[in-house]
Amino acid sequence: MKFFVDTADLNEIKELAATGLLDGVTTNPSLIAKAGGDFKTTIREICAIVPGPVSAEVAATDYDGMLAEGRELAKIAKNVTIKVPLTLDGLKACRALTSEGTLVNVTLCFSANQALLAAKAGATFVSPFIGRLDDIGLDGMALIREIRQIYDNYQNFSTDILAASIRTVNHVKEAALIGADVATVPPATLKALVKHPLTDKGLEQFLADWAKTGQTIV
Ligand code: E4P
Repeated sequence: MKFFVDTADLNEIKELAATGLLDGVTTNPSLIAKAGGDFKTTIREICAIVPGPVSAEVAATDYDGMLAEGRELAKIAKNVTIKVPLTLDGLKACRALTSEGTLVNVTLCFSANQALLAAKAGATFVSPFIGRLDDIGLDGMALIREIRQIYDNYQNFSTDILAASIRTVNHVKEAALIGADVATVPPATLKALVKHPLTDKGLEQFLADWAKTGQTIV
């Protein structure tokens, strides 16, 4: 499973990139607004830090507008991935941009049929939003399971499932068990994946016992 971080915060991205565990970045208009600063400059800076796919979302909702914005954003760097919404115009823009060799992430996916259409439109990634389905009492992880099964039924689909709107470490584990190709995870949740109280306790004990030996390694 690949890990993307779901943020536009450059400091968080730099810190996580330094771990060597980061495969890409996703942003959306809300995350760009939260980080502040110029959109295109922020995307350029993120692309310079992370060589993997960096999602930048269009603001237009019509085909021509999405295509124009997508082409403009794609000029920033080779790893820019254009995010388009899961609408008919978005799917049409997805098909056009992918045929030009641009990476495309079809976002705001809330049903298996939507994901089927994204694959047919040639999307590089489809982003099913787990947390937002859970928020309204539905089962976000069931959607990941359905999409996995549908995509596995058709060998000609090359779209990666990018599990999004992840809220907990358990979401990451469940998505990995199902076989989502990528999880885009908020920085705090990504850092929380490493934590286990028995790791802390065990390390504390080992260090205490090691100190008793009076030895050094280097
Ligand atoms: C995905 O690309 C989105 O940016 C993100 O995962 C949305 O998450 P949220 O539902 O927590 O806003």
